[in-house]
Amino acid sequence: MIERVSEIEKQAAAEISAASSSSELEALRVQYLGRKAELPQLLRDVSQLPPEQRGEAGKAANQARQGLEALLEARAALFEVEEMTASLAEDSVDVTLPGSPAESRGHHHLLSATRREIEDVFCGLGYSVVEGPEVESVHYNFDALNHDPAHPARGRSDTFYVEGGGEGADQILLRTHTSPMQVRIMEQTPPPIALIVPGRVFRRDSDATHTPQFHQIEGLLVDEGVTLADLKGTLLAFARAIFGEERELRLRPHFFPFTEPSVEVDVSCFMCSGGALPGGDRCSLCKGTGWLEVLGSGMVDPNVFAAVSEHGYDPDTHQGFAFGLGIERIAMLKHGVPDLRFFYENDLRFLRQFG
Ligand code: DAH
Repeated sequence: MIERVSEIEKQAAAEISAASSSSELEALRVQYLGRKAELPQLLRDVSQLPPEQRGEAGKAANQARQGLEALLEARAALFEVEEMTASLAEDSVDVTLPGSPAESRGHHHLLSATRREIEDVFCGLGYSVVEGPEVESVHYNFDALNHDPAHPARGRSDTFYVEGGGEGADQILLRTHTSPMQVRIMEQTPPPIALIVPGRVFRRDSDATHTPQFHQIEGLLVDEGVTLADLKGTLLAFARAIFGEERELRLRPHFFPFTEPSVEVDVSCFMCSGGALPGGDRCSLCKGTGWLEVLGSGMVDPNVFAAVSEHGYDPDTHQGFAFGLGIERIAMLKHGVPDLRFFYENDLRFLRQFG
């Protein structure tokens, strides 16, 4: 019996060593160690041997079985690695190849594209981009921005107040402009600062030129020795980058609670010259005026600095300018979009024109 065991062991070991795949190994395992195989059968037969032979025979058969099991396991581990590597190589997909057929990659919505275009201009001038909360308090949206207690924008007909959302200065509302971030930023960052704040704002308004939600970009620069000339130069660079190098600016006196003096800023019309088209017809974009109103602006009111004086802003030392523009308005002017609602209807025939 011991001889037979060693014959089987030799033969099995040779075949296992020669196997070339894990499926061949599995077949050999069944053949030599399976329930009906000879070696396990011999092991079972040990008990039938005369007692003096049992010990040696049992030991030999057991060792043979353990040896073959170990060999099978070692070979199997080797094949597992090899086969996994081969299958990975075979199944590999080059994700950088174009699809077949090539899939359209889509493009930004006109409002996102316009926002990014404006951000690029100001980043180029050294400004940072920050965002702020859309849900604000009366304090940041109105009070700290020097709004008179009777300012009409505070009215429930103009502003979305959150029901049960606090009282007085703590009353919660949906911000009506991005200007509250002027105060939040100054509370957190000492001068000098130069930032823009893009974001969503909300007003109770709805027609062809007003939607309850729209987008603004706020700008704020504070330093020492800042003048209205700096404001005009900055906005001229912006206007030329967005509307063309030939543009000029016009500042008209206006009122905003948080700037003094305040101005409304017009850009010379890029469709016509002085309001008249080349054939002499009246330009419809600027309505014959030669100017397009693009944003509100002004020098930061000392009262706003006073509200953040404990954060390093001193109305006697610091000056700054601020501006606020509507992203929808810039996009409408630049691309001749006639109705604000097109931006939100998600009609692909409209959106794809700006891909
Ligand atoms: N917050 C104003 C609005 O929503 C726009 C504006 C005007 C912002 C003048 C400014 C500014 O920063 O200086 O109508």
